[in-house]
Amino acid sequence: MTPQPGILPGIPNYGRYIELRAKPEASLKALEGFKIDEGLVVGIGPRLAGNDAVYGFKAISCLVDIPSTQADLLLWLRGNDAGDIASRARRLLQALPDFEVVRMVNGFKFGVDLETGLDLSGYEDGTENPKGDAATAAAFAPDGSSFLSLQVWEHDLATFEARPQAAQDDIIGRRLRDNEEMEDAPEFAHVKRTAQESFTPEAFVLRRSMPWSEAGGEGLVFAAFGHSLAPFEALLNRMAGAEDGIVDGLFAFTHPVSGANYWCPPVASGKLSLTP
Ligand code: HEM
Repeated sequence: MTPQPGILPGIPNYGRYIELRAKPEASLKALEGFKIDEGLVVGIGPRLAGNDAVYGFKAISCLVDIPSTQADLLLWLRGNDAGDIASRARRLLQALPDFEVVRMVNGFKFGVDLETGLDLSGYEDGTENPKGDAATAAAFAPDGSSFLSLQVWEHDLATFEARPQAAQDDIIGRRLRDNEEMEDAPEFAHVKRTAQESFTPEAFVLRRSMPWSEAGGEGLVFAAFGHSLAPFEALLNRMAGAEDGIVDGLFAFTHPVSGANYWCPPVASGKLSLTP
């Protein structure tokens, strides 16, 4: 068994995240025929996964509000042709009559010529992602499973852009000008909050987030793949101020509107291997 092939490669030019809720009669049988390639990542929510390592997204409501909108199935379609994605999505949904769509967000790469894309704030997102063997170790359990935490964040870029450049850099903890990490960044700086090696155990995740922009708003679809859900939870708890009362500076201009965990089963012969 091997990991789903769409998880490790960098983000494509287009992505579509479709989250679905199972009707009472739904089962995973419908997924058995799906061809899994680089263009499709499938995640299964805790209700249907039959895998104790995936459980419902834990909402946090303390200094900031982090909602849980746990669903039962995620399809992440990816590619460089938005038309291919739309027609493949239609065919997949036709094959899933026992599921109903609860959220669909179209993502895109900002900076198509860059190795790593940008967030809509203009800052490079993904610089400190683990690479090579370290990426595999961070993202996958020994059997090739991966555990995905997915959150749609909505930005208020007018608020962000109204701040002086130095204050924007303080929020991220990196300089926009050259993407250098700032040694004197404040404690609330995002990359100080989330410095992966500063946790015990270290909290490395493989981030594969994509910006989104629609009539209703704009922001980032944040996607973290891990060998378990624990590294993501450690990062998010510290961002929320649960450790020391210091809230991540990001919350000054953005907040999550959804949150769900999924098990991404490994594949065998191009098909999902659905028994954990
Ligand atoms: C709107 C939401 C978010 C935005 C705009 C954002 C943006 C960024 C940016 C610009 C960086 C610096 C470059 C890089 O290393 O990628 C970064 C780093 C990072 N972010 Fe986020 N992020 C968001 C949410 C999150 C969340 C929810 C988590 C985890 C719970 C997270 C975890 C990380 C980690 C682990 C790093 C690397 C830190 C390091 O080890 O240096 N981010 N993010």
